[in-house]
Amino acid sequence: MTDRLLIIDFGSQVTQLIARRVRESGVYCEIHPFNRVDAESIRKFAPKAIILSGGPASVTAAGAPLPPAAVYESGLPVFGICYGEQAMCAQLGGTVEGSDHREFGRAELEVTDDCVLFEGIWPRGTRQQVWMSHGDRVTSLPPGFRPVGVSVGAPFAAIADDKRRYYGVQFHPEVVHTPEGARLLQNFTRHVAGCSGDWTMAAFRAQAIARIRDQVGKGRVVCGLSGGVDSSVAAVLIHEAVGDQLTCIFVDHGLMRQNEAEQVVTMFRERFNIALVHRDASELFLRKLAGQTDPESKRKIIGGLFIDVFDEEATRLGGADFLAQGTLYPDVIESVAFDGGPSVTIKSHHNVGGLPERMNMKLVEPLRELFKDEVRALGRELGLPEEMVGRHPFPGPGLAIRIPGQEITQEKLEILRKADHIYLQEIRRAGLYGEIWQAFAVLLPVRTVGVMGDSRSYDYACALRAVTSTDGMTAESYPFSHEFLARTATRIINEVPGINRVTYDVTSKPPGTIEWE
Ligand code: XMP
Repeated sequence: MTDRLLIIDFGSQVTQLIARRVRESGVYCEIHPFNRVDAESIRKFAPKAIILSGGPASVTAAGAPLPPAAVYESGLPVFGICYGEQAMCAQLGGTVEGSDHREFGRAELEVTDDCVLFEGIWPRGTRQQVWMSHGDRVTSLPPGFRPVGVSVGAPFAAIADDKRRYYGVQFHPEVVHTPEGARLLQNFTRHVAGCSGDWTMAAFRAQAIARIRDQVGKGRVVCGLSGGVDSSVAAVLIHEAVGDQLTCIFVDHGLMRQNEAEQVVTMFRERFNIALVHRDASELFLRKLAGQTDPESKRKIIGGLFIDVFDEEATRLGGADFLAQGTLYPDVIESVAFDGGPSVTIKSHHNVGGLPERMNMKLVEPLRELFKDEVRALGRELGLPEEMVGRHPFPGPGLAIRIPGQEITQEKLEILRKADHIYLQEIRRAGLYGEIWQAFAVLLPVRTVGVMGDSRSYDYACALRAVTSTDGMTAESYPFSHEFLARTATRIINEVPGINRVTYDVTSKPPGTIEWE
């Protein structure tokens, strides 16, 4: 079995980044919330080491979340990061105090002693850039520990107990603002925990195929294809495992981008030779969307219809034992919430959420352990073309939420498709596609006056949107050159009848969202 590492989560915003850094070093790891870990779960998971994440709580407060004693009784190496360091110190006999001096952002670590964590990166006596975010700090060490680094706000910014293989840092090695942080984590996983670093996408592929065969046996599997990366990679992987026991169903809601539906059909049928049902349901969707202008109503109608049509097609196939889904790890990680406040639905994204409940099939979710960038790497490993693997995310309700505040009609969809196509063509031509998280055109519910040749025009305005992001939770507008924007606007106005004005959206998320609806 490949080496595994357990990350115990105390609710830090950046816990997922610890997992990503650890995996990038070739070590498989999982994030488990602190209140779900006990001696039994540690024994079952069988990690080679444990990392304690950061978190928003204070160990000085009553009822603070703490690692279970089983962590220390396991005899495994333990690495505490930020709150994790404080919790470890408080539990093992040190002291932690609140401080008036909050350290937040870039800070300097003075490396005061040699340490296995610093091997090959940080010699004793040097100063290194790290990223801090803490109020409390450790003020005395538990027996057995020695300090190996200090910062202005933290006398014990890095600590070590080599005998028990316990280490702690007050800073965050998992964020990019600690430039050598990934190597520091790798020193822990390789040199302290002794992990071999052999978890690669090639290894994952082989394991995943074995697991799918094991789960599915001789059963039949259906998989809903959307044209996106996740469902495509899941389908190709499952096909590799169980061949023609898999049938893909592509419910074409008619709200895809230009040529997209044909591309999906050609790729899966011809290139991968996967059995594919293509149901063109665009008329049905448009009919049911008639008169609808509210974003949430559009989502509900599209989500509900999608399930109906999918169910119909699956039944027509004679049913199946398994439903494949491209669920990813971030959807599976149980989150740790401390504030207890209600969460507000900004947009109901889980537009196909009702499918498994309704269909009485078992789920096959071969990507549940992977982050998005790992799914892309797996897609490459499986031979999916780069234009599919590197594709920007596309929302389930498709172009319906890019025609905001208006009724969706075939005519508007055609106008939007053309504008969007030109925009993406220009982005690709400029070599910017890979730098951008998502880029698209939005058809605005406003007509504006223009002059085209000698005559007056009165046509739609469209907005262009492009953002950078790491996970879609926050985003920045992409800083195109004015020349790029002007060139693209000119092309759209000249080539797309129905549009006579183009604007660029410079809103960040928050306060905006990525989509307009
Ligand atoms: P927002 O607009 O909330 O979008 O900033 C964040 C990410 O989610 C996508 N998105 C959706 N995806 N169904 C989906 O499957 C939806 O209803 C939906 N709404 C937004 C959006 O494209 C972006 O990637």
